[in-house]
Amino acid sequence: MSAGAFPLDLFRDRRTPFYYYDTSVLQAALDEVARQLADRPSWRVHYAVKANFHPDLLRIIAGAGLGADCVSGGEIRAALGAGFEAEGIVFAGVGKRDDEIRMALEQGIGRFHVESTAELLVIEEIAAELGVVAPVSFRVNPDVGAHTHANITTGLAENKFGIHHSRLGEAVDLAARLPHVAFLGLHFHIGSQILDMGDFVALCNRINACLDQLDRMGIRLRDLNVGGGLGVDYDHPDERPVAPFAEYFGVFKRHLSTSLPIHFELGRSIVAPCGSLISRVLYVKEGLYRNFAILDAGMTDLIRPALYHAVHRIENISPAGPAEDADATGVYDVVGPVCESSDVFGKGVRLHRCHRGDLVAIRTAGAYGASMASGYNCRPLPDSLIV
Ligand code: LLP
Repeated sequence: MSAGAFPLDLFRDRRTPFYYYDTSVLQAALDEVARQLADRPSWRVHYAVKANFHPDLLRIIAGAGLGADCVSGGEIRAALGAGFEAEGIVFAGVGKRDDEIRMALEQGIGRFHVESTAELLVIEEIAAELGVVAPVSFRVNPDVGAHTHANITTGLAENKFGIHHSRLGEAVDLAARLPHVAFLGLHFHIGSQILDMGDFVALCNRINACLDQLDRMGIRLRDLNVGGGLGVDYDHPDERPVAPFAEYFGVFKRHLSTSLPIHFELGRSIVAPCGSLISRVLYVKEGLYRNFAILDAGMTDLIRPALYHAVHRIENISPAGPAEDADATGVYDVVGPVCESSDVFGKGVRLHRCHRGDLVAIRTAGAYGASMASGYNCRPLPDSLIV
Protein backbone atom coordinates (compact mmCIF):
# COMPACT_ATOMS: atom_id res chain seq x y z
CA MET A 1 0.00 0.00 0.00
CA SER A 2 1.56 3.27 -1.03
CA ALA A 3 0.29 6.72 -1.91
CA GLY A 4 0.24 5.68 -5.55
CA ALA A 5 -1.88 2.68 -4.60
CA PHE A 6 -4.92 4.70 -3.56
CA PRO A 7 -7.82 4.18 -5.98
CA LEU A 8 -8.19 7.87 -6.80
CA ASP A 9 -10.91 7.14 -9.34
CA LEU A 10 -13.09 5.85 -6.53
CA PHE A 11 -12.29 8.84 -4.37
CA ARG A 12 -12.83 11.64 -6.86
CA ASP A 13 -16.58 12.09 -6.58
CA ARG A 14 -17.00 10.93 -3.02
CA ARG A 15 -18.05 13.19 -0.25
CA THR A 16 -15.13 13.68 2.13
CA PRO A 17 -14.02 12.99 4.77
CA PHE A 18 -14.27 9.21 4.78
CA TYR A 19 -12.28 6.25 5.98
CA TYR A 20 -10.76 4.12 3.26
CA TYR A 21 -10.01 0.52 4.21
CA ASP A 22 -7.81 -1.72 2.08
CA THR A 23 -8.80 -5.29 2.92
CA SER A 24 -5.63 -6.70 1.35
CA VAL A 25 -3.65 -4.95 4.09
CA LEU A 26 -6.01 -6.33 6.74
CA GLN A 27 -5.65 -9.79 5.23
CA ALA A 28 -1.85 -9.50 5.32
CA ALA A 29 -2.04 -8.89 9.08
CA LEU A 30 -4.42 -11.82 9.62
CA ASP A 31 -2.22 -14.11 7.51
CA GLU A 32 0.87 -13.14 9.47
CA VAL A 33 -0.89 -13.82 12.79
CA ALA A 34 -1.92 -17.27 11.51
CA ARG A 35 1.64 -17.96 10.34
CA GLN A 36 3.15 -17.00 13.68
CA LEU A 37 0.71 -19.13 15.66
CA ALA A 38 0.82 -22.16 13.37
CA ASP A 39 3.10 -23.95 15.86
CA ARG A 40 0.80 -23.14 18.81
CA PRO A 41 -2.63 -24.59 17.97
CA SER A 42 -4.06 -23.83 21.43
CA TRP A 43 -3.15 -20.12 21.27
CA ARG A 44 -5.85 -17.75 20.11
CA VAL A 45 -6.23 -14.07 19.24
CA HIS A 46 -9.38 -12.19 20.18
CA TYR A 47 -9.74 -9.08 18.09
CA ALA A 48 -10.31 -5.96 20.25
CA VAL A 49 -13.54 -4.68 18.73
CA LYS A 50 -13.03 -1.21 20.20
CA ALA A 51 -10.29 -0.55 17.65
CA ASN A 52 -12.77 -0.63 14.77
CA PHE A 53 -16.29 -2.05 14.74
CA HIS A 54 -17.10 -1.61 11.05
CA PRO A 55 -19.32 -4.65 10.30
CA ASP A 56 -17.49 -5.56 7.08
CA LEU A 57 -14.11 -5.56 8.82
CA LEU A 58 -15.56 -7.55 11.72
CA ARG A 59 -16.89 -10.14 9.27
CA ILE A 60 -13.46 -10.57 7.66
CA ILE A 61 -11.80 -10.90 11.06
CA ALA A 62 -14.42 -13.37 12.32
CA GLY A 63 -13.99 -15.32 9.07
CA ALA A 64 -10.27 -15.65 9.80
CA GLY A 65 -11.16 -17.53 12.97
CA LEU A 66 -10.31 -14.90 15.59
CA GLY A 67 -12.37 -14.47 18.72
CA ALA A 68 -13.60 -11.05 19.89
CA ASP A 69 -12.63 -8.91 22.86
CA CYS A 70 -15.57 -6.69 23.82
CA VAL A 71 -16.00 -3.96 26.41
CA SER A 72 -19.74 -3.27 26.23
CA GLY A 73 -23.03 -4.89 25.43
CA GLY A 74 -23.01 -2.96 22.17
CA GLU A 75 -19.69 -4.50 21.16
CA ILE A 76 -20.93 -7.98 22.06
CA ARG A 77 -23.96 -7.45 19.83
CA ALA A 78 -21.74 -6.11 17.01
CA ALA A 79 -19.46 -9.15 17.32
CA LEU A 80 -22.32 -11.65 17.34
CA GLY A 81 -23.94 -9.86 14.40
CA ALA A 82 -20.71 -10.14 12.40
CA GLY A 83 -20.46 -13.88 12.96
CA PHE A 84 -18.13 -14.25 15.95
CA GLU A 85 -19.17 -17.27 18.00
CA ALA A 86 -20.38 -16.47 21.51
CA GLU A 87 -17.88 -18.96 22.93
CA GLY A 88 -15.03 -16.93 21.40
CA ILE A 89 -16.13 -13.64 22.97
CA VAL A 90 -14.45 -12.24 26.07
CA PHE A 91 -15.99 -9.33 27.97
CA ALA A 92 -13.73 -6.85 29.78
CA GLY A 93 -14.28 -3.46 31.36
CA VAL A 94 -14.19 -1.94 34.84
CA GLY A 95 -17.82 -0.85 34.69
CA LYS A 96 -20.01 -3.59 33.29
CA ARG A 97 -23.69 -2.78 33.75
CA ASP A 98 -26.17 -5.31 35.09
CA ASP A 99 -28.08 -5.47 31.81
CA GLU A 100 -24.84 -6.06 29.90
CA ILE A 101 -23.83 -8.87 32.26
CA ARG A 102 -27.28 -10.44 31.92
CA MET A 103 -27.19 -10.24 28.13
CA ALA A 104 -23.67 -11.70 28.00
CA LEU A 105 -24.76 -14.62 30.20
CA GLU A 106 -27.87 -15.21 28.11
CA GLN A 107 -25.77 -15.23 24.95
CA GLY A 108 -23.31 -17.68 26.50
CA ILE A 109 -20.12 -15.68 25.92
CA GLY A 110 -16.83 -17.44 26.54
CA ARG A 111 -15.40 -15.42 29.41
CA PHE A 112 -15.93 -12.46 31.71
CA HIS A 113 -12.75 -10.58 32.54
CA VAL A 114 -13.60 -9.53 36.05
CA GLU A 115 -11.93 -6.37 37.31
CA SER A 116 -12.99 -6.27 40.98
CA THR A 117 -14.50 -8.45 43.70
CA ALA A 118 -17.49 -6.06 43.74
CA GLU A 119 -18.13 -6.98 40.10
CA LEU A 120 -17.65 -10.69 40.84
CA LEU A 121 -20.46 -10.53 43.41
CA VAL A 122 -22.83 -8.90 40.92
CA ILE A 123 -22.02 -11.54 38.29
CA GLU A 124 -22.69 -14.26 40.89
CA GLU A 125 -26.06 -12.70 41.69
CA ILE A 126 -27.19 -12.37 38.07
CA ALA A 127 -25.89 -15.84 37.13
CA ALA A 128 -27.82 -17.29 40.09
CA GLU A 129 -31.00 -15.55 38.92
CA LEU A 130 -30.53 -17.05 35.46
CA GLY A 131 -29.55 -20.44 36.85
CA VAL A 132 -26.20 -20.54 35.04
CA VAL A 133 -22.53 -20.59 35.96
CA ALA A 134 -20.51 -17.63 34.66
CA PRO A 135 -17.06 -18.43 33.25
CA VAL A 136 -14.66 -15.83 34.69
CA SER A 137 -11.04 -14.84 34.56
CA PHE A 138 -9.59 -12.24 36.87
CA ARG A 139 -8.02 -9.23 35.27
CA VAL A 140 -4.83 -8.80 37.22
CA ASN A 141 -3.24 -5.39 37.53
CA PRO A 142 0.37 -6.48 37.12
CA ASP A 143 1.90 -3.12 38.06
CA VAL A 144 4.03 -3.27 34.93
CA GLY A 145 4.69 -0.03 33.06
CA ALA A 146 4.76 0.34 29.29
CA HIS A 147 6.81 2.65 27.12
CA THR A 148 3.90 4.40 25.47
CA HIS A 149 1.72 7.49 25.91
CA ALA A 150 0.67 7.97 29.55
CA ASN A 151 -3.01 8.04 28.52
CA ILE A 152 -2.80 4.52 27.14
CA THR A 153 -0.93 2.63 29.85
CA THR A 154 -3.26 0.42 31.83
CA GLY A 155 -1.10 -1.96 33.85
CA LEU A 156 0.16 0.32 36.64
CA ALA A 157 -1.15 0.11 40.19
CA GLU A 158 -2.39 3.70 39.84
CA ASN A 159 -4.59 2.74 36.86
CA LYS A 160 -8.24 1.86 37.45
CA PHE A 161 -7.90 -1.51 35.73
CA GLY A 162 -7.82 -4.95 37.27
CA ILE A 163 -7.25 -6.47 40.67
CA HIS A 164 -3.82 -5.69 42.09
CA HIS A 165 -1.63 -8.77 41.86
CA SER A 166 -1.06 -8.72 45.62
CA ARG A 167 -4.85 -9.17 46.15
CA LEU A 168 -5.27 -12.04 43.71
CA GLY A 169 -5.35 -14.65 46.51
CA GLU A 170 -8.35 -12.97 48.19
CA ALA A 171 -10.28 -12.80 44.92
CA VAL A 172 -9.59 -16.45 44.17
CA ASP A 173 -10.76 -17.48 47.67
CA LEU A 174 -13.96 -15.51 47.20
CA ALA A 175 -14.63 -17.09 43.78
CA ALA A 176 -14.24 -20.53 45.31
CA ARG A 177 -17.17 -19.77 47.65
CA LEU A 178 -19.51 -18.59 44.88
CA PRO A 179 -21.50 -21.39 43.23
CA HIS A 180 -22.44 -19.47 40.08
CA VAL A 181 -19.00 -18.40 38.92
CA ALA A 182 -16.29 -20.69 37.60
CA PHE A 183 -12.82 -19.19 37.98
CA LEU A 184 -10.91 -20.35 34.91
CA GLY A 185 -8.10 -17.99 34.09
CA LEU A 186 -6.10 -14.81 34.46
CA HIS A 187 -6.20 -11.76 32.21
CA PHE A 188 -3.61 -9.00 31.82
CA HIS A 189 -3.28 -5.92 29.63
CA ILE A 190 -0.51 -3.37 30.12
CA GLY A 191 -1.28 -0.73 27.49
CA SER A 192 -1.34 0.04 23.82
CA GLN A 193 1.03 1.03 20.99
CA ILE A 194 3.89 -0.84 22.64
CA LEU A 195 6.92 -1.54 20.47
CA ASP A 196 9.46 -2.12 23.22
CA MET A 197 9.36 -5.90 23.57
CA GLY A 198 11.01 -5.55 27.00
CA ASP A 199 7.62 -4.40 28.33
CA PHE A 200 6.08 -7.70 27.30
CA VAL A 201 9.00 -9.59 28.83
CA ALA A 202 8.29 -7.79 32.12
CA LEU A 203 4.65 -8.80 31.78
CA CYS A 204 5.66 -12.44 31.25
CA ASN A 205 7.77 -12.35 34.39
CA ARG A 206 4.84 -11.06 36.41
CA ILE A 207 2.52 -13.66 34.91
CA ASN A 208 4.97 -16.44 35.80
CA ALA A 209 4.99 -15.19 39.40
CA CYS A 210 1.17 -15.16 39.54
CA LEU A 211 1.05 -18.70 38.14
CA ASP A 212 3.51 -19.85 40.81
CA GLN A 213 1.30 -18.31 43.47
CA LEU A 214 -1.82 -20.07 42.17
CA ASP A 215 0.13 -23.29 41.87
CA ARG A 216 1.05 -23.04 45.54
CA MET A 217 -2.65 -22.54 46.30
CA GLY A 218 -3.37 -25.75 44.40
CA ILE A 219 -5.35 -23.98 41.69
CA ARG A 220 -5.34 -25.12 38.10
CA LEU A 221 -6.37 -22.74 35.38
CA ARG A 222 -7.88 -23.44 32.00
CA ASP A 223 -6.05 -20.64 30.15
CA LEU A 224 -4.35 -17.27 30.28
CA ASN A 225 -5.11 -14.06 28.43
CA VAL A 226 -2.17 -11.69 28.07
CA GLY A 227 -4.12 -8.80 26.49
CA GLY A 228 -3.10 -6.77 23.48
CA GLY A 229 -1.00 -3.68 22.98
CA LEU A 230 1.33 -4.47 20.11
CA GLY A 231 2.18 -1.23 18.30
CA VAL A 232 2.45 -0.37 14.62
CA ASP A 233 4.86 1.81 12.65
CA TYR A 234 3.02 5.10 12.12
CA ASP A 235 6.05 6.67 10.41
CA HIS A 236 6.55 4.08 7.68
CA PRO A 237 3.14 2.84 6.57
CA ASP A 238 4.41 1.62 3.19
CA GLU A 239 7.71 0.10 4.31
CA ARG A 240 6.20 -1.66 7.34
CA PRO A 241 2.49 -2.27 6.78
CA VAL A 242 2.44 -5.37 8.99
CA ALA A 243 3.03 -5.12 12.74
CA PRO A 244 5.98 -7.07 14.21
CA PHE A 245 3.92 -10.13 15.12
CA ALA A 246 6.88 -12.52 15.01
CA GLU A 247 8.79 -10.56 17.65
CA TYR A 248 5.67 -10.12 19.77
CA PHE A 249 4.50 -13.74 19.84
CA GLY A 250 8.15 -14.80 20.14
CA VAL A 251 8.39 -13.02 23.51
CA PHE A 252 5.52 -15.06 24.93
CA LYS A 253 6.82 -18.27 23.38
CA ARG A 254 10.19 -17.74 25.06
CA HIS A 255 9.27 -16.13 28.37
CA LEU A 256 6.07 -17.71 29.63
CA SER A 257 6.80 -20.81 31.66
CA THR A 258 3.47 -22.57 31.27
CA SER A 259 1.83 -24.96 28.87
CA LEU A 260 -1.63 -23.39 29.33
CA PRO A 261 -3.37 -22.12 26.20
CA ILE A 262 -2.51 -18.44 25.72
CA HIS A 263 -5.04 -15.91 24.47
CA PHE A 264 -4.28 -12.44 23.09
CA GLU A 265 -6.42 -9.36 22.51
CA LEU A 266 -5.00 -7.43 19.61
CA GLY A 267 -6.76 -4.42 18.14
CA ARG A 268 -4.47 -1.81 16.68
CA SER A 269 -1.95 -4.19 15.15
CA ILE A 270 -4.75 -5.95 13.22
CA VAL A 271 -6.58 -2.95 11.77
CA ALA A 272 -4.51 0.25 12.05
CA PRO A 273 -2.47 -0.19 8.84
CA CYS A 274 -5.46 -0.97 6.61
CA GLY A 275 -7.19 2.37 7.11
CA SER A 276 -6.60 5.94 5.97
CA LEU A 277 -8.73 8.98 6.61
CA ILE A 278 -9.32 10.66 3.25
CA SER A 279 -10.07 14.34 3.32
CA ARG A 280 -10.06 17.39 1.06
CA VAL A 281 -8.15 20.62 1.42
CA LEU A 282 -10.76 23.32 1.91
CA TYR A 283 -8.39 26.26 2.08
CA VAL A 284 -4.71 27.03 2.02
CA LYS A 285 -4.14 29.93 4.33
CA GLU A 286 -0.92 31.85 4.54
CA GLY A 287 -0.44 32.85 8.13
CA LEU A 288 2.11 35.32 9.41
CA TYR A 289 4.53 32.60 10.48
CA ARG A 290 3.19 29.44 8.95
CA ASN A 291 0.97 28.11 6.22
CA PHE A 292 -2.13 26.17 7.06
CA ALA A 293 -3.71 23.42 5.03
CA ILE A 294 -7.27 23.44 6.33
CA LEU A 295 -8.98 20.09 5.79
CA ASP A 296 -12.62 19.09 5.85
CA ALA A 297 -11.66 16.31 8.32
CA GLY A 298 -11.21 17.27 11.92
CA MET A 299 -10.64 15.93 15.39
CA THR A 300 -14.22 14.65 15.36
CA ASP A 301 -13.15 12.17 12.65
CA LEU A 302 -9.73 11.26 14.07
CA ILE A 303 -9.07 12.40 17.61
CA ARG A 304 -5.74 10.63 18.19
CA PRO A 305 -3.48 13.63 17.39
CA ALA A 306 -5.52 15.95 19.65
CA LEU A 307 -5.88 13.43 22.48
CA TYR A 308 -2.50 11.69 22.51
CA HIS A 309 -0.28 13.93 20.34
CA ALA A 310 -0.25 10.95 18.02
CA VAL A 311 1.62 11.48 14.76
CA HIS A 312 0.06 9.98 11.65
CA ARG A 313 1.74 10.25 8.28
CA ILE A 314 -0.04 12.77 6.08
CA GLU A 315 0.13 12.81 2.28
CA ASN A 316 -1.32 14.99 -0.43
CA ILE A 317 -2.42 12.25 -2.83
CA SER A 318 -3.78 14.45 -5.63
CA PRO A 319 -1.55 14.59 -8.70
CA ALA A 320 0.05 17.96 -9.45
CA GLY A 321 -1.68 20.08 -12.11
CA PRO A 322 -0.30 20.02 -15.70
CA ALA A 323 1.40 23.40 -15.31
CA GLU A 324 3.04 22.50 -12.04
CA ASP A 325 6.32 20.90 -11.04
CA ALA A 326 5.26 17.46 -9.76
CA ASP A 327 7.91 17.65 -7.03
CA ALA A 328 6.86 21.05 -5.68
CA THR A 329 6.27 20.88 -1.94
CA GLY A 330 5.26 23.19 0.86
CA VAL A 331 5.34 23.06 4.63
CA TYR A 332 1.98 23.24 6.37
CA ASP A 333 0.26 23.00 9.66
CA VAL A 334 -2.45 20.54 8.72
CA VAL A 335 -5.59 21.42 10.65
CA GLY A 336 -9.29 20.65 10.77
CA PRO A 337 -12.36 22.89 10.85
CA VAL A 338 -13.40 22.23 14.45
CA CYS A 339 -13.48 25.17 16.85
CA GLU A 340 -10.66 23.92 19.06
CA SER A 341 -6.99 24.87 18.90
CA SER A 342 -6.09 21.22 19.37
CA ASP A 343 -7.82 20.33 16.08
CA VAL A 344 -4.42 19.82 14.43
CA PHE A 345 -3.29 16.72 12.53
CA GLY A 346 0.32 17.78 12.16
CA LYS A 347 2.56 20.83 12.47
CA GLY A 348 5.24 21.76 9.96
CA VAL A 349 4.38 18.86 7.66
CA ARG A 350 6.04 18.76 4.23
CA LEU A 351 3.44 17.88 1.59
CA HIS A 352 3.16 18.05 -2.17
CA ARG A 353 2.03 21.63 -2.72
CA CYS A 354 -1.57 21.94 -1.57
CA HIS A 355 -4.47 23.53 -3.39
CA ARG A 356 -8.13 23.81 -2.60
CA GLY A 357 -9.80 20.50 -3.45
CA ASP A 358 -6.69 18.30 -3.16
CA LEU A 359 -7.20 14.93 -1.52
CA VAL A 360 -5.17 14.29 1.61
CA ALA A 361 -4.64 10.87 3.20
CA ILE A 362 -3.98 10.53 6.92
CA ARG A 363 -2.41 7.11 7.17
CA THR A 364 -2.53 4.19 9.60
CA ALA A 365 -5.92 5.32 10.86
CA GLY A 366 -7.77 2.00 10.81
CA ALA A 367 -7.61 1.64 14.59
CA TYR A 368 -9.19 4.07 17.05
CA GLY A 369 -10.11 6.41 14.20
CA ALA A 370 -13.70 5.82 13.11
CA SER A 371 -14.47 4.06 16.38
CA MET A 372 -13.65 7.21 18.37
CA ALA A 373 -15.39 9.67 16.03
CA SER A 374 -17.87 12.09 17.57
CA GLY A 375 -20.57 14.49 16.50
CA TYR A 376 -19.05 17.55 18.19
CA ASN A 377 -19.95 20.80 16.41
CA CYS A 378 -22.96 18.91 14.93
CA ARG A 379 -20.60 17.30 12.45
CA PRO A 380 -21.69 14.09 10.73
CA LEU A 381 -19.79 10.89 11.50
CA PRO A 382 -17.27 10.00 8.78
CA ASP A 383 -18.38 7.66 6.04
CA SER A 384 -16.29 4.65 4.95
CA LEU A 385 -15.21 2.92 1.76
CA ILE A 386 -13.96 -0.66 1.81
CA VAL A 387 -12.01 -2.04 -1.11
N1 LLP B 1 -7.49 -5.52 25.75
C1 LLP B 1 -7.85 -4.57 26.62
C2 LLP B 1 -8.30 -4.95 27.93
C3 LLP B 1 -7.75 -3.21 26.25
O1 LLP B 1 -8.07 -2.27 27.11
C4 LLP B 1 -7.28 -2.88 24.94
C5 LLP B 1 -7.18 -1.50 24.52
C6 LLP B 1 -6.95 -3.92 24.07
C7 LLP B 1 -7.06 -5.23 24.50
C8 LLP B 1 -6.48 -3.68 22.66
O2 LLP B 1 -5.24 -3.04 22.66
P1 LLP B 1 -4.44 -2.82 21.30
O3 LLP B 1 -3.97 -4.16 20.81
O4 LLP B 1 -5.35 -2.16 20.33
O5 LLP B 1 -3.32 -1.93 21.68
N2 LLP B 1 -7.58 4.93 21.84
C9 LLP B 1 -6.18 4.66 22.08
C10 LLP B 1 -5.92 3.22 22.42
C11 LLP B 1 -6.73 2.77 23.61
C12 LLP B 1 -6.56 1.32 23.91
C13 LLP B 1 -7.54 0.88 24.92
N3 LLP B 1 -7.47 -0.51 25.27
C14 LLP B 1 -5.38 5.09 20.86
O6 LLP B 1 -5.98 5.58 19.91
O7 LLP B 1 -4.17 4.99 20.85
